[in-house]
Amino acid sequence: MSEVILKLSNLRKIYITGNLRTAKKALEEIQKLSVTYEKLADKDKNNKNLKEYEKLLNNAHKLFYEEKFEECYTSLTQKIITRGPRNTGVVIHALNGINLEIKQGEMVAIIGPSGSGKTTLLSMLGLHDTPTTGQIYLRGKKISSIKSSKLPDIRSKELGFVFQSFDLIPTMTALENVVLPLKYSKAPAKERDALAEEALELVGMSNRLYHTPNQLSGGQKQRVAIARAIVNKPAIIFGDELTGELDIKTTKEIMQLVTKLNKQGQTFVIVTHNPEVAKFCQRTIMIVDGRVARTL
Ligand SMILES: Nc1ncnc2c1ncn2[C@@H]1O[C@H](COP(=O)(O)OP(=O)(O)O)[C@@H](O)[C@H]1O
Ligand SMILES: [Mg+2]
Repeated sequence: MSEVILKLSNLRKIYITGNLRTAKKALEEIQKLSVTYEKLADKDKNNKNLKEYEKLLNNAHKLFYEEKFEECYTSLTQKIITRGPRNTGVVIHALNGINLEIKQGEMVAIIGPSGSGKTTLLSMLGLHDTPTTGQIYLRGKKISSIKSSKLPDIRSKELGFVFQSFDLIPTMTALENVVLPLKYSKAPAKERDALAEEALELVGMSNRLYHTPNQLSGGQKQRVAIARAIVNKPAIIFGDELTGELDIKTTKEIMQLVTKLNKQGQTFVIVTHNPEVAKFCQRTIMIVDGRVARTL
């Protein structure tokens, strides 16, 4: 069995826009009880209060989802929200209870309609953003229990990112762009150029080391971006629409490259609108309305 690298457990991301006071107060109480629950569960998995808390939380989430904010608040506090003048806005359940595991060596596609929560999900998996409730585990370790000052370091060593728009630094050569993450991860200065050249060779760009991005085609730029993502040998590489700006032929070439790197052991999680891209992946997770609708 392969090691589970990332795990999401009952993950929710809720946005409250405007001035929806009742929703904000109810959500605060849900978060407070979630923290209490987690602390207790960490200390003593068999504590008899856990089941009670779990029931209370599940019910509160249900009421909150049904927009019964006052009832939700009362169920957790036994108090009533005093009515105020302003109470307008919208609640968005961007992620609504996601359970997910990414294992070492996998190549996973995340698909779903626009607005379904894919980018939000990716920002959780990439440790860019924190969930409203629920837990993220990296190799079994709870992210919420890691000091936030340590996260950038973990991210730069363990996670790689490839974006639709390549996001290369225009004034730097391909080689310099790929060296950059090695500086952040504090790889020994003497080894950086060799490591970057090795990564560029893996993506078939050895003959373009000194080109700047404007001297490269879209597909070549994405190859450099992939080299930049793999150079630190991260546990997972995330791609958000990484072929979004490429034509059909180049999309296929880039996905063949990703497949080659995956066969060498690199784990990938790719968000895409394109079913042809998803076909390259071993597993496709479909997100609808912030939930895992199905796995193919
Ligand atoms: N910062 C935010 N504040 C409020 N709502 C947001 C925010 N970010 C995303 N949303 C909403 O959350 C939902 C999911 O968004 P997103 O993850 O970007 O979807 P996708 O990438 O699948 O198109 C959308 O309804 C979007 O409008
Ligand atoms: Mg998106």
